[in-house]
Amino acid sequence: MQDLLLKNALIVNEGKIFRGGVLIRQGRIEKLFGAPEMQEEDYPQDIRTMDLDGLYLLPGVIDDQVHFREPGLTHKGDIATESAAAVAGGITSFMEMPNTLPQTTTQKALEEKFALGLEHSLANFSFYMGATNDNLEELRATDPGSVCGIKVFMGASTGNMLVDQPESLANIFRLTRLPIAVHCEDEATIQANLAIARKLYRDDIPAHHHPVIRDHEACETSSRLAVSLAERYGTRLHLLHLSTAGELRYLDRNTPLHEKRITAEACIHHLWFTREDYREKGPWIRWNPAVKDASDREALISGLADGLIDVVATDHAPHTREEKQRPYLQCPSGGPMVQHALVAMLEFFHRGRLPLEKIVDLMCHNPAVIFGVKDRGFIREGYAADLVAVQLDSPWTVTADNIRYKCGWSPMEGTVFKSAVMHTFVNGRHVYNQGKTDHAVRGEALRFSR
Ligand code: DOR
Repeated sequence: MQDLLLKNALIVNEGKIFRGGVLIRQGRIEKLFGAPEMQEEDYPQDIRTMDLDGLYLLPGVIDDQVHFREPGLTHKGDIATESAAAVAGGITSFMEMPNTLPQTTTQKALEEKFALGLEHSLANFSFYMGATNDNLEELRATDPGSVCGIKVFMGASTGNMLVDQPESLANIFRLTRLPIAVHCEDEATIQANLAIARKLYRDDIPAHHHPVIRDHEACETSSRLAVSLAERYGTRLHLLHLSTAGELRYLDRNTPLHEKRITAEACIHHLWFTREDYREKGPWIRWNPAVKDASDREALISGLADGLIDVVATDHAPHTREEKQRPYLQCPSGGPMVQHALVAMLEFFHRGRLPLEKIVDLMCHNPAVIFGVKDRGFIREGYAADLVAVQLDSPWTVTADNIRYKCGWSPMEGTVFKSAVMHTFVNGRHVYNQGKTDHAVRGEALRFSR
C-alpha cells in the first residue's frame, strides 16, 4: 500500500476545525499536521501527495444501523452494492442488522456473514447478533471483541424477529454482555391500531395512515419498557431510530457519553421528512418506526444539538420498487439512505441548525465511543486512515442516474444537496474519488474494546 500525504484540508475533528493534513502509512494515520500557521514547507516533501485545496476532511462516518440484505435477500441489495453506495456517501464502517435469510441468530450464521463481509465489503464492517425468544445461549456465546452488539426487535418489523416473551426479554437484558440495540414499537398497540384501520379502509389502507398505526404510543410504551429493563439489570442499552418527542424523556444530557448506560440514535429519515410528506412520497418514506409529526422532527433535531441523542445513523433498508408499490398490507417498510446521509446532515449545518463539529460527533466519534470501536472514528495518530473529504458548496441533485443502490431508487430523488462527498479513504485506500469507486478495495472487520 502506497504512503500518502493529504494536505491543505480543513480538518474537522474532536470539536475543532483547523487547516492541516494527514500522513497515511500502511493504512494508518502516522501524523496529523495542524496549526493555525501551518506552512507549505512544514509538510514532508518526499511523498505522494494529494492537495485537498480547502476541502473539509472528516473521520469516515460509522453507521451503526444498516440492512445490507445478504445473505438471502440479495434482490434488494447486497454487501458489495450497498457498501459501494456507502463509501460514495462517506461511510467507511457499518454495523449490519440480523434480519437476513437465514436470520443472524446463531453463531454459525454470524460466522458466515463475517466471511461474506471479508469477501465483498468495500467498507469496514461488523454484524449484530439477533435475539429471538429462545436463543440465549447463542447470544451468550457472542464474541464481544468482534461483534458490535445484540439486536432485539421489541416490535415486529421486516423479517419477523419479534422478541415478545417477558422472560426472554428479561434474560437477554440480564445475562448478555454486549451492548443491546433495540427496535422499540409496542406490538399490542400496533395490532389494535391496525384493526381499527382495517375497519376504516378494509384492505385499501393509505400510506399516510402509517403513523396512525405505528403511532407515538407504540414507540413510547416500548421504549419505556426497554429503559426500565436496562435500569433494572444495568444493561448497556442503545435505543435505535427514535421517532417521537416523547421518547426523549428517557434520555440524559448531563452524563458524559463514555459513562452513559443508555444511549440513543436518530435516523436521517426521521430528521428529514414529516407526516406532510406522505401525500407526495407515500410508501417511499414508509419506515418502521414511522415518520411522524413536524414537532417530533423538531424535537429530534434539538435533541441532537443538546446531547440527548448521541448518534445519527441511516437504518438503510432497501426494498425493490415493485415491493414498495404493493398495497399497504403487503408493502415492506424501509428505504435506502447510506449514499445520502452525510450530505443530508450537512444541510443542517447550512441551515444553521448543527455545527460541523457536532455532525462529526454524531456520525463519527460517538458511534466509536458507544460501541468501543478500536482505533477508528477519530483523526488520531495511530488510528486507521478512514477519512472523508467533502466540499460544502458543490450543489447537486439526486437523480435516478446518480443513485448507487441496487434497488435503484431513493426517497431523496429530486433533492438538491449543497454539499458533496469528494473522496473517501478506507484504511488508507482511496476507495471513492469524485464519482469513481475502486471496487477492488476491501474493508476490515471492526474490533471492539470493552
Ligand atoms: O423500516 C424498517 N425496515 N424498519 C425495520 O426495522 C426493518 C427494516 C427492514 O429491514 O426493511
